[in-house]
Amino acid sequence: MANNFFRTKSVERILQENESGTHQLKRTLGLWSLIAIGIGCIIGTGIFVLTGKVAIENSGPGIMISFVICGIACILAALCYAEFASFIPIAGSAYTYSYATMGEMVAWIIGWDLILEYGLSTSAVASGWSSHFVNFIDLISGHSLKVPEIWALTPFEPTFAKDAAGNILKDAAGHATTIGHGIMNLPAMFISMAITLLLILGIKESARFNNIIVVIKTSVALFFIGVGIIFINPENWHPFVPAFIPDGTVNTVNANSTPLWQWLVHLFGGTVQTGFGGWSGIFMGAAVIFFAYIGFDAVSTTSEEAKNPKRDVPRAIIWSLLICTILYILMSAVFTGIVKCDGTLKFDELGTFKGAPLAYAFSKVDASWVNKIALFLVEIGGLCGITSVLLVTLLGQSRVFYSMSKDKLLPEWIAQIHPKFQTPWIGTAITGGVVTLIAGFVPLDTIAEMANIGTLFAFVLVSAGIIYLRKNQPERIASFRTPFVPFVPILAILFCFALMLSLPAMTWVRFFVWMAVGMVIYIFYGAKNSRLNDK
Ligand code: ALA
Repeated sequence: MANNFFRTKSVERILQENESGTHQLKRTLGLWSLIAIGIGCIIGTGIFVLTGKVAIENSGPGIMISFVICGIACILAALCYAEFASFIPIAGSAYTYSYATMGEMVAWIIGWDLILEYGLSTSAVASGWSSHFVNFIDLISGHSLKVPEIWALTPFEPTFAKDAAGNILKDAAGHATTIGHGIMNLPAMFISMAITLLLILGIKESARFNNIIVVIKTSVALFFIGVGIIFINPENWHPFVPAFIPDGTVNTVNANSTPLWQWLVHLFGGTVQTGFGGWSGIFMGAAVIFFAYIGFDAVSTTSEEAKNPKRDVPRAIIWSLLICTILYILMSAVFTGIVKCDGTLKFDELGTFKGAPLAYAFSKVDASWVNKIALFLVEIGGLCGITSVLLVTLLGQSRVFYSMSKDKLLPEWIAQIHPKFQTPWIGTAITGGVVTLIAGFVPLDTIAEMANIGTLFAFVLVSAGIIYLRKNQPERIASFRTPFVPFVPILAILFCFALMLSLPAMTWVRFFVWMAVGMVIYIFYGAKNSRLNDK
């Protein structure tokens, strides 16, 4: 049976199954449309929601360095990913590519891990959508219509006492007064279900629709930068790497917040202290805002519609990443230039703006036109932008599920196509159901951390895969070749691993449990039922 673990699925077989299984798609997408698709999948909850949280709680203005670190990690990994993607010009994923090259078990591990990336990203993105929705309703109703807080927060998130004007009340020590906790995040559940239904009905996001959304959200990003720049106070950027402010006593570790590397130092008798700022804050921040970069690999799912997939798909992956990296650095520069993030501001003080920190920056500006127009635009841009990411991540997740069940590594009935809508409705419905539950009951940062560890691990495997391929299958010449092998893949692995180590210990525990469950399913189900057994 162990031999089964390393059997591969030939490229010819993949292409043949692909041709018999789907309609031939028209090759209409040029380089710019592919870049737009990349940007469409990348810009979402990460920049619109997590940036503010990370700047306030972890990195201060140093968040710009956090974005650079993540950008480098992603570009290095993308160079490896692009070689994989250019092997097989079909709408595959890292799962499909690795099945053809590194064998079934690695493919399974990547596929199982991608469920974490796409599935949990969808839940996290839904959570970010919810925050923008709540604020948007509040804004357009002139503050007269409010979604009750308990129905927009998970049971793990506290609710706070407020005065008549909506400001959070604090006790004598300056801590916000907690009065309870949320029940479930209903808007996040609603949008997850709505998107699931759309995908089952077969309403796929068309390239044209995507282009419109990309124009809206890129314009909002540029608008935020262009208008925000007027209100920057450069003093807020000093010191660029804020001095470290401990958040507790020495050697107090918390599984949910202490990064794994500090946990290990503590375990081996070293002294650790967590808190805001310093280089540890920058790395902790980087491990969280890495989420903002997830999605660039979605470009490869459009290979069948690209005019020149072998040339343009790898280029589009790299260009969309570069453009987003620059936008992210500028946006975080503006945010930290307007809002002083020196460790004294507490995230809870943002009140209803907790879910829309960019809008918070504009609410603080002393100019009424900014408060009205800019606030509105940032809210609507966030809402539209996040919706398009939701569509793509959920679609990506159901495609991975679909491929794995078509290969019979998961039960085949999951891949069943709906007779009328021609979509893999069972897989999509299961995915949508789980995503809905997670979005409703688990807080955004916990989900994002899990999605991050899953994605970073996938990048590590893909980068290692390039080294493996060059060594073991040198005869395979992809149209795009990762430069400077093995240095680029090794650097990619080191960067991704450093980010993984900066995630909380508890995230690692959950990740190991997920992967262990996956291995059990593979050994007792997948390996025995695989379509490759059929010969
Ligand atoms: N990068 C995507 C986002 O930030 C997943 O929403």
